[in-house]
Amino acid sequence: MTMPMLRFDAVTRHFGGLIALNAVSFEVGAGEIVGLIGPNGSGKSTLANIATGLLQPTSGAVYMEEGRLSGSAPWRIARAGVARTFQMLRLFPTMSVADNIALAMQPGLKTGYGASIFRTSAASREDAEVRGKAIEMLSLFNLEKFIDQPATALSIGQQRMVELARGLATGPRVFVLDEPAAGLSPPMVDRLIEVIRRMRKDYGVTVLLVEHVMRLVQAVCDRVVVLDYGEKIADAAPSVAVNDPRVVEAYLGVGRTNHA
Ligand SMILES: Nc1ncnc2c1ncn2[C@@H]1O[C@H](COP(=O)(O)OP(=O)(O)O)[C@@H](O)[C@H]1O
Ligand SMILES: [Mg+2]
Repeated sequence: MTMPMLRFDAVTRHFGGLIALNAVSFEVGAGEIVGLIGPNGSGKSTLANIATGLLQPTSGAVYMEEGRLSGSAPWRIARAGVARTFQMLRLFPTMSVADNIALAMQPGLKTGYGASIFRTSAASREDAEVRGKAIEMLSLFNLEKFIDQPATALSIGQQRMVELARGLATGPRVFVLDEPAAGLSPPMVDRLIEVIRRMRKDYGVTVLLVEHVMRLVQAVCDRVVVLDYGEKIADAAPSVAVNDPRVVEAYLGVGRTNHA
């Protein structure tokens, strides 16, 4: 494997008496696309939240290129180049698609709000830059024609794509995607497969993909880490992991209620 970009070191998280994650360790190499899969409630979103600073681990830590991420505020982690999308949509519904993307890009702007209000030439140059970036990102999903529409004018699947465009517009080095295929039609999943591949190829992004749509995972991931009840039960190529007896048992096991 290439140099690790992200390293999860014995990450444990308790919620009261529940052990949501138990000493989970794995690495994501620079430029790798790693899938994080497992039944509902196995701890995937909890791990994504810990990686992006929204939750702190009970013990253990997450490192990015040997700098410690866990313990830092989410904005600091974002500034270190870690972007994410959420399992639930988080767009501002009445705001235009362009403004949703522009808002995410604000921290990178040099002239700030005051300058924007007075429309200095630097600010309008930045406005043009932001709009250009928004168009570039939306074009990846064939959504550029919606740029001035309110987010709610788009289908749920299209809004998910806008969230990806928004995250990518911030120029992340690591992109944590939490179930990006939820609510997408099969042709949109095809488009998503293409875009995730381009994230690495054209934008050099390292991807941690939380997903249960196996067609997507198999198409894009170099490796998958499988969680079951907060334990890592496999870390292998997708084609190997899906045939691992422990993984098969986790997904199909007798007496389980969740088969997601
Ligand atoms: N904030 C929380 N408070 C209490 N329990 C939680 C919280 N977040 C997650 N859990 C529990 O932790 C376990 C793992 O949840 P989660 O990480 O969301 O799983 P997944 O994303 O794999 O479906 C579940 O049993 C869930 O109910
Ligand atoms: Mg989840």
